[in-house]
Amino acid sequence: MNYNIALLRGDGIGPEIVDSAVRVLHAIGQKYGHSFICTPYLIGGAAIDAVGEPLPKDTVDGCLNSDSVLLGAVGGPKWDTLPGSLRPEKALLGIRAALGLFTNLRPARLYPALKDACPLRESVASSGFDIMIVRELTGGIYFGDRGYREGKYGEEAYDTECYSRFEIERIARVAFETAKKRGNKVTSIDKANVLETSRLWRRTVHEIAEEYEGVECVDMLVDNAAMQLVKNPAQFDVIVTSNMFGDILSDEASQITGSIGMLPSASRNETSRGLYEPIHGSAPDIAGKGIANPIATILSAAMMLRHSFSLAAEADAIENAVDSALNAGLRTADIAEKGASWLSTTEMTDEIIKRL
Ligand code: IPM
Ligand code: MG
Repeated sequence: MNYNIALLRGDGIGPEIVDSAVRVLHAIGQKYGHSFICTPYLIGGAAIDAVGEPLPKDTVDGCLNSDSVLLGAVGGPKWDTLPGSLRPEKALLGIRAALGLFTNLRPARLYPALKDACPLRESVASSGFDIMIVRELTGGIYFGDRGYREGKYGEEAYDTECYSRFEIERIARVAFETAKKRGNKVTSIDKANVLETSRLWRRTVHEIAEEYEGVECVDMLVDNAAMQLVKNPAQFDVIVTSNMFGDILSDEASQITGSIGMLPSASRNETSRGLYEPIHGSAPDIAGKGIANPIATILSAAMMLRHSFSLAAEADAIENAVDSALNAGLRTADIAEKGASWLSTTEMTDEIIKRL
């Protein structure tokens, strides 16, 4: 089979880690008889520098005409002073909206080989955790009405949170479907003691829960959820939450794995075309040094194979190769213990390819 992949390398370490993942894709393609045809498109700061805007139309068209999209990371200090509509981050929101990627899947699991990197107390870390955050990605305050106006105290700015029943229903279904294939538990996180959108969220999630008899549905307020994640992360299976809460909690969840450089993510719509990217950012401080951890992007490519192309065996092979490299004690700088030796981006990629 031939698969057309749009590559959005982006900024900072983006190009290095995407190139690593592409090498892994080509290797797995060779082994299993697939062709992955990768076409690069500009996004983020790189696009601003080249054509003056963070998300050129060419890029959107290229993604819409691809079978799936692999993204590195966008942004960096060079573009931080640009107005909001021209910032590299705007490209991320733009591509999510253009592709209708309403679901964002962010797994956060503790790798047994990396238990020591977990910042939580030994007694908490030892029980391990494996959480799938299902974040709503095209609604809420990120996409609501915003602007400036004259208020009681003079100039004021506002952003609004809005959720329709339809948007909540469809993300809730994704969460319950996901839980059915995992631990049969959905924790729905909101702020229903204050926000009207959260009250509609909670009511709607429970209506959908009725359709999934074997799946437990628990509500949790977002402030409590932030505490529970560090106190007892093992209680979570699938978390479903709004765009903004999901943004915040997924960073917290990734941090407690101790290895943000290892976490992939998938953004999906109702088609098979998705956008796959590491959870971490563009890390401008280490860009170009060849020391970035390519694993999150390699695992994102594996998620693409599994979710967009239904190539489960190929995805398994990549994930197993990563596990095997880690179990063999191989580390990149970010996950190496103090004073221990570590591999460059290219060396780690080679080691993973060797184990496919
Ligand atoms: C993320 C990022 C983005 C978001 C930013 C860069 C716009 O933090 O993907 O989590 O808030 O969604
Ligand atoms: Mg974020």
